[in-house]
Amino acid sequence: MVDLKAQYEKIGSEIDIAIKSVLRSTAFIKGPDVKLFEEELREYMGVKHVVSCANGTDALYLAMMALGLKPGDEVITTNFTFIATIEVVALLGLKPVIVDPDPDSFNISAEAVRKAITPRTRVIIPVHLFGQCADMENLIEIANKNNLFIIEDAAQATGADYFFKDGTIKKAGTIGNIGTTSFFPSKNLGCYGDGGALYTNDDTYGNKLRSIANHGMKVRYHYDDIGVNSRLDTIQAAILRVKLKYLSQFNGARKTLADKYDKAFSGCQSISVPERVRYSSHIFHQYTIKVKNGKRDELKKFLESKCIPSMVYYPGPLHMQKAYNHLGYKENDFPVTSALCKEVLSLPMHPDMEQEQLDYIILNVLNFFNK
Ligand SMILES: Cc1ncc(COP(=O)(O)O)c(C=O)c1O
Repeated sequence: MVDLKAQYEKIGSEIDIAIKSVLRSTAFIKGPDVKLFEEELREYMGVKHVVSCANGTDALYLAMMALGLKPGDEVITTNFTFIATIEVVALLGLKPVIVDPDPDSFNISAEAVRKAITPRTRVIIPVHLFGQCADMENLIEIANKNNLFIIEDAAQATGADYFFKDGTIKKAGTIGNIGTTSFFPSKNLGCYGDGGALYTNDDTYGNKLRSIANHGMKVRYHYDDIGVNSRLDTIQAAILRVKLKYLSQFNGARKTLADKYDKAFSGCQSISVPERVRYSSHIFHQYTIKVKNGKRDELKKFLESKCIPSMVYYPGPLHMQKAYNHLGYKENDFPVTSALCKEVLSLPMHPDMEQEQLDYIILNVLNFFNK
């Protein structure tokens, strides 16, 4: 699905130098590269604070800790996402309230959020799924009306732009009260292990996040907050500094590939290509088609037989996972998510894909439907 080896072949010499310089310095924890990476990412994102941390799951956890939520507070998020988004809600004793996404954009439905609000709702977590922003302007309106926080899960959307109606453009993750991201290796901006970060324009949250990611410590051995140990390793920061320089180029290459996929599949009635919404750019963390007439699994198998990888993100709705039985949802509560779980298929997508590889994938997808 991604070819990290091909990428390493292209930028490996720069990465090696970056890693070796950390090895020589032995500043493995909180070394200078961490601060420099935060500063460079801050500039790229156009946001006031970037706080790095150990991974994208921790970023969500830290964001919820910083907001000072109380057990039982309700957090609305989408049913069609990676488990991390609701896992941290549950871990903090908060109540995940899950809603259906929009069937075309795959992102949380603002209408469904509106209906799920109760007097205990405190937070909305939109996930900018597969590289495209959720409907932020409508969500902000709902949040403002109901006095709610917004935490954006931008793990899959580093570099995506949100276009406001008044012409303002902001990066995914910098729009709500706090934004979170992941640097998991396969992400658009991925490191060579685990990593994550938080974004905020609010000084109070910025300072609080920095403190709780480091044991609640602002001054050495003085603890103002109950915190955790969630730091980005210096080696990962050094790698990310190299990769950040290529992010726009890599995201552009993904978009070019997506355009080619779209064009090739435009005449195929059995496939829906990913919707591109007017209010967001798409950085194609995944290129996810919908396969009609119940043929998704058959197509996946056929591609496998041709040595073409494909993945189902996500095969099972969150509300049917055993760990979340206690939430009391029933199988048919989320028809959009249930349908998507049966229809979606993500095709290989990475900036190092050769034209020949793309042609081979397209040919075989089309052959499957024409056979
Ligand atoms: C939408 C979403 N949220 C959160 C995460 C968690 O990130 P991490 O794997 O770095 O903990 C991921 C990543 O895999 C993700 O895709």
